[in-house]
Amino acid sequence: MKQFTREDLEYIFDVAHEMREMVQRVGSFDLLKGKILANLFYEPSTRTSSSFTSAMERLGGSLIPINEVHYSSVAKGESLPDTIRTLECYADVIVLRHPEVGASALAAKYAKKPIINAGDGVGEHPTQALLDTFTIYEELGTLDGITVTMLGDLKYGRTVHSLARLLSLSDVTINYVSPGILRIPREIFEEVEAQKIPQSEFESLDPAIPDTDVLYVTRVQKERFEDLTAYDQVKSAFVITPETLSDAKKTHDHHAPIAQGG
Ligand code: CP
Repeated sequence: MKQFTREDLEYIFDVAHEMREMVQRVGSFDLLKGKILANLFYEPSTRTSSSFTSAMERLGGSLIPINEVHYSSVAKGESLPDTIRTLECYADVIVLRHPEVGASALAAKYAKKPIINAGDGVGEHPTQALLDTFTIYEELGTLDGITVTMLGDLKYGRTVHSLARLLSLSDVTINYVSPGILRIPREIFEEVEAQKIPQSEFESLDPAIPDTDVLYVTRVQKERFEDLTAYDQVKSAFVITPETLSDAKKTHDHHAPIAQGG
């Protein structure tokens, strides 16, 4: 996420807005005719892998889908750099989801073609954060002057890590609500603090909800826990109901849309 500037973000939002309107008007077009994307997923995905497939199809390009690495040469012991070097012979861009933090950065080191990080373990999920900030921008008309409250598994939830970093390019206030063992990683908190973004941490939503413009809820990431007893202790820590939101802002300016992070 660190490679993006505020200007990049504004440019991407403009293009995304225009593309959405084009899709609504004509469905598909041929901006990427003749281009091939390799969708390389070492972890399960519905939304991210489908969104890249859909985008490529709508833009007139084609796809190499590798959603089940057990049926690829990875199962024969091929390393990530070798898989990337092979795939880039056939594709113009590679989308990678991998269980290890830094896998996309490693892939990018060996690749001559662009690598898009579609989730690296508990690290980052930049394309989700771009989509989340775009959604907030389209719903509220701005990213400045708003308070975003992130709730749930902030330790393992990679979408939250990317979203906090991306939001720190704007004039926002960020609240983090989580059980003690699932707090936002110190590294991210300190990075956001260095951008002079006001941040607060809570163990309950109640004190944060009245000032919240956007409530971002992420599930407890069971698959990341080494100790499932710890998971059992926190799995039901937060349940959002109409009652939970009774103190939330009511009008559009003060309305709290709910985004679901993956
Ligand atoms: N949001 C998200 O990453 O969902 P998937 O795991 O289904 O791709």
